[in-house]
Amino acid sequence: MGARRIVLLGPPGSGKGTQAVRLAASLGVPHISTGDLLRSEVQNRTALGREAQRFMDRGELVPDQVVAEMIKHRVQGTTGFVLDGFPRNVKQAQILESVTEVDRALHFRLDRDEIVRRLSARRVCSQCGRVYNLLSSPPKNDALCDLCHGALTQRTDDTPEVIAHRIDVQYAREIGPLVEFYRARSVLREIDARGDIETVYRAACKALE
Ligand code: AP5
Repeated sequence: MGARRIVLLGPPGSGKGTQAVRLAASLGVPHISTGDLLRSEVQNRTALGREAQRFMDRGELVPDQVVAEMIKHRVQGTTGFVLDGFPRNVKQAQILESVTEVDRALHFRLDRDEIVRRLSARRVCSQCGRVYNLLSSPPKNDALCDLCHGALTQRTDDTPEVIAHRIDVQYAREIGPLVEFYRARSVLREIDARGDIETVYRAACKALE
């Protein structure tokens, strides 16, 4: 794989987080997830977390500057990263471009029915954060994490109403101009995210060559 400064774009549930973990491990670079960073702020009840939660609960984007401040110092001056969930719009892409170059932007494409199917079956370990899927990658016991035996929970934004809002308000409105932004810089690659995890991973690796 040649590219090391990578951003993952795509609708909720398209597998950005799943693939980011694998790609970051194989490249030896940090996996930076704005969703995970925001959920940790919410869990720790910080001022930022309290502000962010209002948007996340409704399935809306947290204000650009709030998210950008979390990201900038993590990518500035580094030679590699997998950014999962940032940027979400052209404004965020411009902020990112002001601090670092991007070698590849992978756009995961998935239809609405499959998004809803995957997110409805997603379970997350409340202790170690490992992500499962009751249909495609089930835990041995539906209620407990295989690794640490923590309780498995559903994300509060994985309800049908909030999923619909995340697809329509966050993704569908913003993705066209964002894709064009990276296409114009010749770093965009489209990834068919319908296959199983291994198939999508192979496609992502090929797109980084
Ligand atoms: P975030 O956590 O980033 O949520 P998201 O973008 O909606 O993406 P998801 O985490 O839901 O899905 P994913 O694509 O990572 O899929 P996953 O790999 O888990 O953001 C949460 C909130 O924070 C946002 O709504 C917003 O409010 C805020 N926020 C975050 N970033 C922001 C930003 N930059 N600006 C402003 N606000 C921001 O997979 C889903 C499920 O499918 C899992 O169960 C998995 O096991 C399974 N699965 C994965 N791949 C496959 C496969 N190939 N086949 C079958 N099952 C699969």
